[in-house]
Amino acid sequence: MYKKILFFLLISQAALAQSSLPLIPKPIEAHLQNGNFLLDGNTFISAGKDSFEARFLKDYVAGQYGIELRTLTTKPSTDQRVIYFSIVPSDTSNEQEGKYRLEVQKTRIDIISSSATGIWYGVQTLVQLLPVEKSASLPIKCIRVSDAPLFKWRGMHLDVCRHFFSVDFVKKYIDYLAMYKMNTFHWHLTDDQGWRIEIKKYPKLTEIGAWRNGTMVGHYNDQKYDSIRYGGFYTQEQIKEVVAYAKERHIAIIPEIEMPGHAQAALAAYPELSCTGGPFEVARRWGVLDDVFCPKEATIAFLEDVLSEVMPLFPSEYIHIGGDECPKARWEKCPHCQAMIAELGLKDEHGLQSYFITRIEKFVNSKGRKIIGWDEILEGGLAPNAAVMSWRGTEGGIAAAKQQHHVVMSPGSHCYFDQYQADSSTQPLAIGGMITTEKVYSFHPVPEGLSASEAKYIMGAQANVWTEYIASEDHVEYMVFPRIAALSEVLWGTAKSEEYSDFYQRLMKHLKLLDNLGVNYCREILKH
Ligand code: ACM
Ligand code: ZN
Repeated sequence: MYKKILFFLLISQAALAQSSLPLIPKPIEAHLQNGNFLLDGNTFISAGKDSFEARFLKDYVAGQYGIELRTLTTKPSTDQRVIYFSIVPSDTSNEQEGKYRLEVQKTRIDIISSSATGIWYGVQTLVQLLPVEKSASLPIKCIRVSDAPLFKWRGMHLDVCRHFFSVDFVKKYIDYLAMYKMNTFHWHLTDDQGWRIEIKKYPKLTEIGAWRNGTMVGHYNDQKYDSIRYGGFYTQEQIKEVVAYAKERHIAIIPEIEMPGHAQAALAAYPELSCTGGPFEVARRWGVLDDVFCPKEATIAFLEDVLSEVMPLFPSEYIHIGGDECPKARWEKCPHCQAMIAELGLKDEHGLQSYFITRIEKFVNSKGRKIIGWDEILEGGLAPNAAVMSWRGTEGGIAAAKQQHHVVMSPGSHCYFDQYQADSSTQPLAIGGMITTEKVYSFHPVPEGLSASEAKYIMGAQANVWTEYIASEDHVEYMVFPRIAALSEVLWGTAKSEEYSDFYQRLMKHLKLLDNLGVNYCREILKH
């Protein structure tokens, strides 16, 4: 009896200790110990020669605290304080990607993993354990952490078409993902209102397609426009730089090239790829537009050329081909489209969309890559190897998983960070809806009703940041923070909606770190 009580006392103390630490996402296991490690100008770091993770930690500590960590080159003397990074072979053949241990003792810190990715996550945990008060000597509580992520796709999306964001800001966005141990950045590069990636074979995509002659002002319902020329794009050199930057931070970038819908910027440049021949302008209004790619051979050849330039830039497993919101109005009246439906023996325009996506899939697969598309790609039949990003609820994801296709969950109910996060009367204009941080925290990427073997197809989830109503970098931060913190814990696998108050306590401490970093987070969270 006494032993049992002692046992529960110990467990609850460990839990208490966890919630008093400002760690987000919460580690699987963390046990506070007695004492502190003192990090100061006499602290050494010992890592592999070219360890980016070590360089990152050094730069972070120098940048935030003005402390220069020293590199350990010889065997340490007994009174030296050292941070060791050790990559050791795993003891199992199917170890989770990113598993690590972090041990802070009085005279040494160890970060141990079988991979550089695990070391990276250990570093991110260590960074969050540093005191937020700046000083030349930083006490770090002794602790043992044993940790690994649950989901393999831990993502954030950013729409750079409706509004354009600089390379520097995209890097900052990647830094934010990294801080929360996320590993996937979905870069939405093409849409009706702007084509944002240089394609050398088709220069008009950016000469014409990257610029619009005005933008909606206020809400869509107001139907008001300015007449200011707006645009921008990334050169292939800039894309390479961003992809390399993300890779160092253990983040894969998934490019999205929208097809067959959301194509008006491309059609403004190359109207012959449409059903009617145009002419078109790069869209100034938001929404779903009727002029889409005509899925004829010339269009497929064009898109294969585009993808042939895109794929070498992005070494990701998946290429996102859009697939959402493609009205069939033009296809219904187009002689090319109708002839294709007849010749190929397709049922209707949905069959044509499915045929088109399958053609693109074959091409992408022939280059050793896989496609992922929004859940409309289920309509008319899923391409054989396609993964589905479920945005219109989770139903599309459930249907895909039941057909043994991989899924990323991103439902509008929990994962649309373009929606309000607090009462709209207190907030800058947004598209509508409301997803609070608590709502994000309650999200379960694996829906009920899937068997264990079907559930394995859910790779994870991501939040989407559509930027119709988000024109500045500060405003992106505002919409993303603090909801990204809640999402990161959902994806790491340690969020329990009934323990939101524990998360909230940690978040309140974590906000001080965001203050130090100058993040423009939404302060409504402080009122709860
Ligand atoms: C989407 O929000 N149209 C994928
Ligand atoms: Zn057509």
